[in-house]
Amino acid sequence: MTTTTPHATGFTVAEEHAMAAALRAAATGVRGANPLVGAALVDRDGRLVAVGHHRGAGTDHAEVDVLHRAAAAGATPERIAAATMVVTLEPCNHTGRTGACTEAILAAGVRSVVHAIGDPHRAAAGGAHRLRAAGVEVRDGLLGDAARDLNRRWLTAVGTRPFVTVKVAQSLDGGIAAADGTSRWITGPAARADGHRLRALADAVLVSTGTVLADDPALTARRPDGSLGDRQPRRAVMGLRPVPADAAIRGHDDRFRHLPTRDPAEALAGLYADGVRHVLIDGSPRLSAAFARAGLIDELVVYQAPVLLGGRPAFPDLGLATLDDALRFVPDEAGGGAATRFGPDTRLRFVPARRGGPTGSDAHPATDPVDDTVDTTKG
Ligand SMILES: NC(=O)c1ccc[n+]([C@@H]2O[C@H](COP(=O)([O-])OP(=O)(O)OC[C@H]3O[C@@H](n4cnc5c(N)ncnc54)[C@H](OP(=O)(O)O)[C@@H]3O)[C@@H](O)[C@H]2O)c1
Repeated sequence: MTTTTPHATGFTVAEEHAMAAALRAAATGVRGANPLVGAALVDRDGRLVAVGHHRGAGTDHAEVDVLHRAAAAGATPERIAAATMVVTLEPCNHTGRTGACTEAILAAGVRSVVHAIGDPHRAAAGGAHRLRAAGVEVRDGLLGDAARDLNRRWLTAVGTRPFVTVKVAQSLDGGIAAADGTSRWITGPAARADGHRLRALADAVLVSTGTVLADDPALTARRPDGSLGDRQPRRAVMGLRPVPADAAIRGHDDRFRHLPTRDPAEALAGLYADGVRHVLIDGSPRLSAAFARAGLIDELVVYQAPVLLGGRPAFPDLGLATLDDALRFVPDEAGGGAATRFGPDTRLRFVPARRGGPTGSDAHPATDPVDDTVDTTKG
């Protein structure tokens, strides 16, 4: 078993293992507006008492989940109180749809907390301060890089611009339309249904004037039977040409916006001012290439159909001269896995490779499939 010997970083080996387990649990959560958060309790002997995680907006936060799990697994209140709470994000200090995590930790009598990264969300920040004021020992920075990687989407969204997901439906050879411009449908119904699910998660869907004029998409989030889903994103079009008065994207509400610019940063600023924190660029090849050139793709979702198409590439005009300039991505294993089959098609999810960082599939070691092994020894 791991020891409680202080680690070079000021954390014990057991705490580091617990944080790795919390990160793996967090990665199984639901990608959406909320951060992916995991928590673990590790006892004085360095044994893992329980691991928990957050399962999406409105459900228990990770800290509350792990406390419930520890009790359900038979840990006594004394053993829980004597344990160290290890959590991937600073515990929140505000009561939203669920109670403040700081209060749950204090109510359980936990006296030692380790978190990976601070919470930049203003309404929630101050958790560490609140806990310290109540006499709890709080340490931070354990596996902080892995925690930041896991929640880059959310950390961007509480920053200064929306998080940008680019979605592409393409052939095996990277084509998104045939030579004559026809592009419906490259992927099958299951992949398209998942694409609609992606739309429903975003605050806004963005396409170019070029795509609106070529395809006249409605950009609504629809169920497989064609009916409208409960959550609808805003619809935005970017480009200098006017959007026809009868374009389907205008819809019948006030949630349409034309951004008369070709500058990705300007478009994002406009969307951010509207309250958009997560934008989905739904196809639009030259627009997607412009965001890639500007380094403004945070997540790439590729639906790959088993077909060879030739025709038009998904990312024209990247302006790259040599392989050294290639824009590299790494598979994103969090939130359901980097590769998922939808009928004959495959969904691939990527995040940009960090400059100078690993470029292989080992770039996110903390997000491997969750290991649920816990020691339920009673204290
Ligand atoms: N398979 C798929 O997933 C998928 C999805 C969508 C579309 N498509 C296909 O893509 C084709 C449309 O492609 P497209 O070549 O017209 O590319 P596009 O990216 O859809 O549109 C290009 C137009 O977008 C505007 N624009 C805005 N910002 C831009 C920027 N930074 N850089 C370049 N253009 C910018 C420009 O119009 P302004 O002159 O108005 O500024 C430009 O002419 C259609 O055949 C459509 O069917 C396929």
